[in-house]
Amino acid sequence: MIDRLFKKKDISSILNESKNSNDGLKRSLSATNLVTLGIGAIVGTGIFVITGQAAAMYAGPALTISFVISALGCIMAGLCYAEFAAMIPVSGGVYSYSYTTMGEVLAWFVGWILILEYLFACSSVAVGWWSGYMLSLLKDWGIMLPEQIAGATFDHLKDDSWVWTGRIINFPAVFIVAVVSSFLIGGIKQSAFVNNIIVVIKVVVILLFIGFGLSYIDLGNLTPYIPENTGEFGHFGWSGILRGAGVVFYAYLGFDALSTAAGEAKNPQKDMPKGILISLLICAVLYIAVTTVLTGIVNYTELNVDAPIALAIDSTGSGLAWLSPFIKLGAIAGLSSVILVMMLGQSRIYYAISKDGLLPKTFSKVHDKHGIPHNATIFASIVTGLIAGLFPLHVLSELVSIGTLMAFTIVCISIVVLRKTQPDLKRPFKTPFSPVLPLLGAAICILQMLSLPWNTWVRLIGWSVLGFIIYFTYGIKHSELNKK
Ligand code: ALA
Repeated sequence: MIDRLFKKKDISSILNESKNSNDGLKRSLSATNLVTLGIGAIVGTGIFVITGQAAAMYAGPALTISFVISALGCIMAGLCYAEFAAMIPVSGGVYSYSYTTMGEVLAWFVGWILILEYLFACSSVAVGWWSGYMLSLLKDWGIMLPEQIAGATFDHLKDDSWVWTGRIINFPAVFIVAVVSSFLIGGIKQSAFVNNIIVVIKVVVILLFIGFGLSYIDLGNLTPYIPENTGEFGHFGWSGILRGAGVVFYAYLGFDALSTAAGEAKNPQKDMPKGILISLLICAVLYIAVTTVLTGIVNYTELNVDAPIALAIDSTGSGLAWLSPFIKLGAIAGLSSVILVMMLGQSRIYYAISKDGLLPKTFSKVHDKHGIPHNATIFASIVTGLIAGLFPLHVLSELVSIGTLMAFTIVCISIVVLRKTQPDLKRPFKTPFSPVLPLLGAAICILQMLSLPWNTWVRLIGWSVLGFIIYFTYGIKHSELNKK
């Protein structure tokens, strides 16, 4: 029984399967598409919403240092992802890697955690999409939605209780999920095209903000650069910078979703590492520049708002007023592409797990014309829409972070394990300084997980138990590997 649970997939058989398979997925993503998909998935709520709040509550102008620290952690994990994605370029990302390093039951667990990450990432961004910039833009246009359909149905209070907010559903969050899903159903080429347009819009808007905002920086706002600690850990000073790094980690998420689409890349062995690492680096530079301009224009104490960049523009008076609608549109478009790529990742995880028989086969059916796993995509949209419509942002985003950190830890450790157990495998890209760098990456992720609230851990444990129940009642009986 134990042998059966930990049976591993052979890497060479996976590679042959993916080369010879006629599963219908189209290999149409170029290196540029992969970089833009990466930026599409990364730049979102983190920079447009969370930056201001993290500067106001934890780090002040020194949030730029938090962004650097967080980027270092992500680049370590990114390098490990790049090694795997080039070595095992199939759909399913970390789930597929784990099947070869840790065996079936742990791979299922990893897949289940990835579902948690992408499901809650899509839902939390859909909620964030609405609550900040969209609401503000509609207000500018004099449009107000009835309160009953403009927010989450349930809220979670500080005393850990749940309450009904009196609202029916967060209609705009459900709406954006439905719109994005309709693009995904059209196929990977169409999704990549829509994503490219959105990425151009959001990067141009960010560059405009940086370029025009520079001359409005008041150096007084940047001094002291590291505000003095208030006496409480995590509130300014160096501990605030560290907590800020943990919070803005969310802003970098998304590069990992790329690895789930490796099965659709034209030349995955060369292009996946490029896609992951270049998109991560571009975003790190943009984030550091935006944070500098933002905290330079507005004093950090005033930045705890839902739309901080819009606030900075408004505070310049008539000077940058022309930029305001572009920033709001850029943010709205930007958040939509995060939902798009995360939803793509979610559907490809269902697809990969179902191909192995651990989820019903219907999820691995590929549409004849569009060449995508359409049932998995529709299922992902329905579940995401429901969760986005019912729950508040803070509960969703904490679950995203813990799920992602767990996936990153597993990837970093798996690199070290695989270098030991299968040293001769062909590795088109190698993580430098192994095992030090991957182990350091894993340690940083574990530390960040430990800093999250205990009730997030309770939810993670609940989610894992549900996962094991599904595996032992369904997956184990239908596993393709066990049939062999
Ligand atoms: N990195 C993504 C965002 O900031 C999750 O929205």
